[in-house]
Amino acid sequence: RSPSMAKEPVRVLVTGAAGQIGYALVPMIARGVMLGADQPVILHMLDIPPAEEALNGVKMELVDAAFPLLKGCIFIIMWFKFQMVLLRCVVATTDVVEACTGVNIAVMVGGFPRKEGMERKDVMSKNVSIYKSQASALEQHAAPNCKVVVVANPANTNALILKEFAPSIPAKNITCLTRLDHNRALGQISEKLNVQVSDVKNVIIWGNHSSTQYPDVNHATVKTPSGEKPVRELVKDDAWLNGEFITTVQQRGAAIIKARKLSSALSAASAACDHIRDWVLGTPEGTWVSMGVYSDGSYNAPAGVIYSFPVTCGNGEWTIVQGLAIDEFSRKKLDLTGAELTEEKELAYSCLS
Ligand code: NAD
Ligand code: LMR
Repeated sequence: RSPSMAKEPVRVLVTGAAGQIGYALVPMIARGVMLGADQPVILHMLDIPPAEEALNGVKMELVDAAFPLLKGCIFIIMWFKFQMVLLRCVVATTDVVEACTGVNIAVMVGGFPRKEGMERKDVMSKNVSIYKSQASALEQHAAPNCKVVVVANPANTNALILKEFAPSIPAKNITCLTRLDHNRALGQISEKLNVQVSDVKNVIIWGNHSSTQYPDVNHATVKTPSGEKPVRELVKDDAWLNGEFITTVQQRGAAIIKARKLSSALSAASAACDHIRDWVLGTPEGTWVSMGVYSDGSYNAPAGVIYSFPVTCGNGEWTIVQGLAIDEFSRKKLDLTGAELTEEKELAYSCLS
């Protein structure tokens, strides 16, 4: 691509950028993993004042990495008759308005972690207030049509609060990350069958990014030399698919915390890139992915919560895949995770009142 054909830079906000997912995510974005190898980006990184120094350290490293896609954008500062021209390719700030101004994509990773002695309601209360106030900043200052993915837990309910308190952002622009769970499901099938993970497709994560999520392989297939074959036909072990496979994916986050003493970071960052890339650039023909999106009641999921569905993406929009058969086993699991989301919604509202 010649310089005259160069694309306009896209502004990508990462909140909680001084944290561990942030640290894994920003270099991926700057290398083109999220938006493509020919898409210049301007990174906006937000964190809170106690993390300001660490955030500046991340900014220094981004400069030191000399990523060609990190494009400077000119800021002109005027005072009296003097003017100063600054070329900034990274905005690192603790000011939410500065962070949100003009962003085209927002990856919301910042949040309050659960600490010893805290009840679920205490964590929910801290996070929903953060998402309520960041909703207003995004609504007022982000670029029109900004696409948002919430990563911070409780991801679905934080995304719902963001949507509720940013009424002028179209509901379809606010999503939450369940792609990590989707990728975990692909990974488990690939390991079980000893096949390339890229040959497995169309698993589904239904519902909440929590241990009630339902990883469903009933429509998943594997590419084989003799064509695409259903995962169930190849695995030939329904007990595993209906048992250990599901619980492994549901509990994978906890297993990583146990092993690393920290929650997943590189896989979460990679999944956030996958989520935005497919949303912006489209899913391959015949392939769907899982995204937490504002539920319209498809598949009798509760309407008005952020529920993970199978979606295809094209022209920058997601569409829920319709018409998939849901058996009795799956029905119960879709309902269970839906009920948890309805309960979380009520809890979130009770925290805000
Ligand atoms: P972390 O604690 O390392 O980083 C979080 C960062 O957020 C910190 O730097 C903190 O200072 C910052 N922060 C706190 N309040 C903020 C605010 N109001 N505005 C901006 N920044 C703020 O945590 P992490 O390991 O990076 O994980 C981040 C979140 O992602 C957690 O909630 C975690 O549970 C969640 N997570 C989600 C998934 C998923 O698949 N959806 C996967 C892994 C982790
Ligand atoms: C994950 O799925 O890895 C995380 O959501 C776990 C967590 O609680 O941070």
